[in-house]
Amino acid sequence: MTDPTVLSAMRHGDACDGEDSRHPPEIDTSKASIARVYDAFLGGKDNFASDRVVYDSIIEIAPQAAEVAKANRRWLTRVVGYLSRYVGIVQYLDLGAGLPTMENTHQAAQRHKPNAVVIYVDNDPAVNAYGRALLEENDHTHFITADLTQPATLLEHPTVTRALEFDRPMALIQCATLHHVDDQADPAGIMRQYIDALPSGSYVALTHWWDPADGSAGSTLAQEMQRRMRTSSMGTGRYRTREDILSFFHGLQLLEPGLVKLDEWWPPGPPIRERSLVEHLILGAVGRKP
Ligand SMILES: C[S@@+](CC[C@H](N)C(=O)[O-])C[C@H]1O[C@@H](n2cnc3c(N)ncnc32)[C@H](O)[C@@H]1O
Repeated sequence: MTDPTVLSAMRHGDACDGEDSRHPPEIDTSKASIARVYDAFLGGKDNFASDRVVYDSIIEIAPQAAEVAKANRRWLTRVVGYLSRYVGIVQYLDLGAGLPTMENTHQAAQRHKPNAVVIYVDNDPAVNAYGRALLEENDHTHFITADLTQPATLLEHPTVTRALEFDRPMALIQCATLHHVDDQADPAGIMRQYIDALPSGSYVALTHWWDPADGSAGSTLAQEMQRRMRTSSMGTGRYRTREDILSFFHGLQLLEPGLVKLDEWWPPGPPIRERSLVEHLILGAVGRKP
């Protein structure tokens, strides 16, 4: 367990420069990590020089890329707010939760349903070290370290079986995660296992980087960003086609308006500016299990 005062100092930006040795030893600062690179895009402090190399390499070709991360986060909390307030969902399994940021799943859910149960899952040691305390803010929120590509093991985790009732509808959140799961790991098969385990009336909320695969400038940019991420020390990142992303909702009924650009999914108001090219390259949808 890391000294909370050290973590507090790190969270305020005076220790996360990659040279400082006060970070927990399980955190490998020599290589970028998905969670910490995402934190950099969100403007957080829990990232190191190795993460910012990846950030810089993407910003070089897509200066608005941070807006994609922010739109993804807005989408996540908008969907959770909808599910909690209007649908009445009180159980959430948030896979690949990421580092805590301005608003997190439990805050969006518990604003409307104070007793809503949220289980955060991540396999990044930085999320465990810096995030656990903030994410486990009350008795209804839990954090577990587990691999989301292993549904059978994850669903048997004692916290999952104890905190979630599998005879009541729940929401499974898979936001900006599966584009870090390679084809060889069979992301559609992974999703089928989760969906099979969900009770009827449950929801799946999913976002994913999109390659229009049509020879357009957007597709070229998607492929170059993919190349840069995969050849970076982070080593992962996959832009997929609409058909590939739709295959992750197998057996679910998509809520209107379907699989769309994130700010087209029930936005709070009309856009205030044109999207930049990179902002077109992520899609999201919410599916309901009949
Ligand atoms: C881009 S972040 C997205 C965070 C959050 N879901 C959101 O949409 O704001 C992806 C997260 O998934 C986690 N992740 C990636 N692969 C994972 C795996 N196999 N098991 C558990 N977590 C994973 C990363 O550590 C990271 O925190």
